Amino acid sequence: MSDQVIAIASDHGGFELKEVLKADLEEMGLAIVDLGCYDTSSVDYPDYANKLAAALQNESATRGILVCGSGIGISIAANRHSHIRAALVHDALTAKLSREHNNANVIVLGGRTTGIEVARDCLKVFLNTKFEGGRHQMRIDKLL
Ligand code: RB5
Repeated sequence: MSDQVIAIASDHGGFELKEVLKADLEEMGLAIVDLGCYDTSSVDYPDYANKLAAALQNESATRGILVCGSGIGISIAANRHSHIRAALVHDALTAKLSREHNNANVIVLGGRTTGIEVARDCLKVFLNTKFEGGRHQMRIDKLL
């Protein structure tokens, strides 16, 4: 994990959870790029998905975390970028599968839909689970 730089971003609906997850990343000693937002003022989630996609594209980050109110809008926006595999997860199992089967490079959470402790658990699993490769890579190769 030590070579990882984690980009994190949210809209206002995800701001509070983003701050909690950011503190966890700091506690883990990981390098973090916080792309905003920086308070609960209303903003537009595509702007933050696009910022995070740019950070992964230019390799200033290796993985990403996105949060909006439901996680839905910001995951739709992130997945418009062909280099992003953003997984909206709701528990540790979906977080684990997003890595093992989908090689997700971005985890997405809903700040208004997923409890804080569940979200923290999802993040840990996402960071510590390896991609299984094999048949799953062949399927990923078919994503356009
Ligand atoms: C913002 O009010 C809310 O629509 C947004 O955070 C997200 O839930 C969209 O999918």
